[in-house]
Amino acid sequence: MNYPVLTSPITVGGMHLKNRMVMSPMATYGMANADGSSNERHRAYYEARARGGLGLIRTETTLVHLSGKCWPRQLAIFDDRFIPGLSRLVRAVKQHGASIVMQLHHGGAYASEALIGHRPLAPSPKPAHGRSVIPQQMTVEQIEELEHAFAQGARRAREAGFDGVELHMGTVYLILSFVSPAQNLRKDVYGSDFNGRMRFPLRIVEKIRAQAGADFPIGARIPGTDYYEGGVDISYCQQVAKALAGAGLAYVDVTAAQGPNVLRKSPLTMGYGEGVFADYAAAVKSVVPIPVMTVGRYQTLAAAESVLAAGKADLAVFGRAVLADPALAAKSLRGDERRVIPCIGCDACFAIGHANLGTSCLLNPETGHENEPGISKATRRRNVLVLGSGAPGMEFARAAALRGHNVAVITNGAPFGGLLALRAAISYAREIGKAIDYFRVTVSDLGIEVLDQIPDRPFDVRVDARPGVPTYPSIPGLEPSRIVLGEQILAGVVSLDSVADHIAVFGSGLYAGEVALYLAEAGKKVTLVAGSARVMEEVYARVAATVGLRLSDHGVRSIAGATALKFERGTLSLSVKGGHESVAPIEQIVAAMGWEPLPLPEGVEAYTVADVWEPFAAARQSALAARVARDF
Ligand SMILES: Cc1cc2nc3c(=O)[nH]c(=O)nc-3n(C[C@H](O)[C@H](O)[C@H](O)COP(=O)(O)O)c2cc1C
Ligand code: SF4
Repeated sequence: MNYPVLTSPITVGGMHLKNRMVMSPMATYGMANADGSSNERHRAYYEARARGGLGLIRTETTLVHLSGKCWPRQLAIFDDRFIPGLSRLVRAVKQHGASIVMQLHHGGAYASEALIGHRPLAPSPKPAHGRSVIPQQMTVEQIEELEHAFAQGARRAREAGFDGVELHMGTVYLILSFVSPAQNLRKDVYGSDFNGRMRFPLRIVEKIRAQAGADFPIGARIPGTDYYEGGVDISYCQQVAKALAGAGLAYVDVTAAQGPNVLRKSPLTMGYGEGVFADYAAAVKSVVPIPVMTVGRYQTLAAAESVLAAGKADLAVFGRAVLADPALAAKSLRGDERRVIPCIGCDACFAIGHANLGTSCLLNPETGHENEPGISKATRRRNVLVLGSGAPGMEFARAAALRGHNVAVITNGAPFGGLLALRAAISYAREIGKAIDYFRVTVSDLGIEVLDQIPDRPFDVRVDARPGVPTYPSIPGLEPSRIVLGEQILAGVVSLDSVADHIAVFGSGLYAGEVALYLAEAGKKVTLVAGSARVMEEVYARVAATVGLRLSDHGVRSIAGATALKFERGTLSLSVKGGHESVAPIEQIVAAMGWEPLPLPEGVEAYTVADVWEPFAAARQSALAARVARDF
């Protein structure tokens, strides 16, 4: 397919971009050095995205003042000492013909007290969404000091060779908390009305011009909504965009921020399609003369091309899609879309980042490790048996085949794709099917055999990449014939028609939540019973919230902190957080509690990289598979 609009050059605030494909700013969470300087690993990650064909790279949140630090090893620009490392980053990116902009950042009320050593700063003493700490209301002197810090950051960025800078007003960090009426309750010149709320960003712009030069391009990321009642909505966003355009900004990128309604309303996770904020961009484009960028789950060039061709925006921004595959653009432009490692919106990358484990992807463990040597040929070719075809097993098979081994993947009667294939049966998670399609292309390209059963021939290495042995609940009085496994239902081994109408799903993780959702969508009356303090405990918040909302929309009752006491004549008795509850009628129990690992066999070189349901845990297993497959 051709992408005439995406591939056409554009000039943005004086920057000549070779095409209209832009990398979204994404925190690398721990890839920079301890002091915030860029290093070889960090540089290699960005360079790979530039090599992959994007016209503009935007850095992650880059700290302009220590009082805004949100996480350890946050990339920094608050001192001249950061310039040399960042210059090397700029050179690495530019040698591939891409331009590069730095995202200037101060965390405001989201700054970490532990890292900055005092209460965080904000325009008003309002805790950030999801936080309890009440920030210090900034004095005018503190505000002016930070305006200066942004300007100094921009000056350093220019000295390091950046093509421009951008103000991060896309999330409720410091600048947006001045701009949003829900955050800024000040009655002085930095609040009171729209002009007062815009004073902070506009003064930053003035000071950047004075420090870094009037011709240095400045862009901004702004939200179409901040998900706060009385906060930013799209008409307010248009006003903000007009004020920024009036101040001569180079571009605006229209995203959404994260207020209290974000979990209920955000379409940034799987199941909502591509270009989820395109209408916000279009609304902004209709009122400003400067280039407008659109972001939000673009996974294919085709979707981005159609939004640009429809005139809704001027440039398309790719975030997770280029975490999954840095070469998304290059592969698609040569017509090789089938070989693009897909982003399935599983949010494992967010969870990895928020655990300060750097940046990576469930389907591409090489993300975040671009500076490491590539897969090298093995000195001797071996016969490798991979039991299980989920993400970790497929990563092992791929890497082993690239090393030159003979690889056979055994599905063992489970669907190809392992647990990912089962998840893809759930309506909101259908896009996981793209991962299975990609696995199929991989096995065909690399000559990996896919067999249902273990063949009768010797193997040198055996890799167990199956989930393991299913766990069942212990329910006194329950006849074993009333229990069925969630995996059997999702795989179609047990038909939905044969599942009773009134069921209790047992399990504490995402697996249980999604099995309950699948059954509820099929019209069953479902009670979700979790032993943990919360249902879907230890699941990344946005994923848990998305599934939780869908469960309540389907009338699923959730009971957490429960232990089964007995089952008698259709009544399930539970001990719940010290009390007692009876659930009736219950005709059948669905076990979705997970799996216990299988023991390693003796007498053969063997490894385990378990297939697991929850994406963050699965990504860690895929990373393990990638490491082991390179070394055995
Ligand atoms: C791991 C990760 C880190 C992110 N860090 C930032 C950031 O530093 N600055 C920012 O403006 N947005 C950040 N975002 C949001 C993305 O830039 C982007 O707006 C969002 O992921 C939606 O785009 P996508 O659906 O193409 O991923 C981050 C997203 C991810 C996945
Ligand atoms: S971890 Fe999941 S959401 Fe993140 S880039 Fe990879 S596939 Fe996409």
